[in-house]
Amino acid sequence: MHPMLNIAVKAARRAGNLIHRSTDKIDQLTITKKSHADFVSEVDRAAEQTIIQTLLEAYPSHAILAEESGSHGESEYLWIIDPLDGTTNFLHGLPQFCVSIGLQHKGILTQAVVYDPVKNELFTATRGQGAYLNDRRLRVSKRLHLADSLIGTGFPYTRFEHMDAYIGIFKDLMQKTSGLRRPGSAALDLAWLAAGRYDGFFEIGLKPWDMAAGCLLVIEAGGMVSDLYGTDGFMKSGFICAGNPTIHPLLLQVMAPHLTPELKS
Ligand code: IPD
Ligand code: CA
Ligand code: CA
Repeated sequence: MHPMLNIAVKAARRAGNLIHRSTDKIDQLTITKKSHADFVSEVDRAAEQTIIQTLLEAYPSHAILAEESGSHGESEYLWIIDPLDGTTNFLHGLPQFCVSIGLQHKGILTQAVVYDPVKNELFTATRGQGAYLNDRRLRVSKRLHLADSLIGTGFPYTRFEHMDAYIGIFKDLMQKTSGLRRPGSAALDLAWLAAGRYDGFFEIGLKPWDMAAGCLLVIEAGGMVSDLYGTDGFMKSGFICAGNPTIHPLLLQVMAPHLTPELKS
């Protein structure tokens, strides 16, 4: 395992264990509202501190972009961290959340860890060396037809300006696929796509920490990731469409009639 991935795994496991231990005292946690329907708990913050400490202990000069504490430092190495992806699930006792850590080197994603502490599933990838679930090599699904495919997504819930486009896409996909799922953790959605559990995924309005690690997992498992127009720039815009190499272009075709210029990256 690449030494940087090894450290990221150590950080993700530490944070994941901390989160998992907190699941039986959720009703005692201090919870703060960041904006409409957007909450943060002391567990998100503690997990983030554990991750940052572990990473900086090994690589003190690296830079950090983390959901709860923002950006620190300047370096060609940037760790992109979501300490608890799926906070709403966590706060309601729904066992679908994870820790997500991605590393960019000179702007290119090179290492990825998504850790699900409930199922003890560790998804990892190093650029050019494939994606893994625990010790098993991952490949995206081989499904060829939209009608057979299962698509993951996330509903808009804090900002609603692209609601009509989203509902239009949703309505079409409801009729054209074999199912849509909204489990509530985008990083796990992408990891599951890499594992072949879904055939495609899309969401409008993600942040870099929701996607960084998951995107590398999908790419290293042989999948494709783009914005809703099929172009790059999704890490900045947060408009993302991903899938196996056959389903990805089919998803883009379904989306095209619903897109507005504001949805371009
Ligand atoms: C959220 C989850 C959710 C997605 C949201 C994200 P958080 O992250 O990934 O699935 O739909 O867009 O903000 O707030 O739980 O870290
Ligand atoms: Ca998140
Ligand atoms: Ca989070």
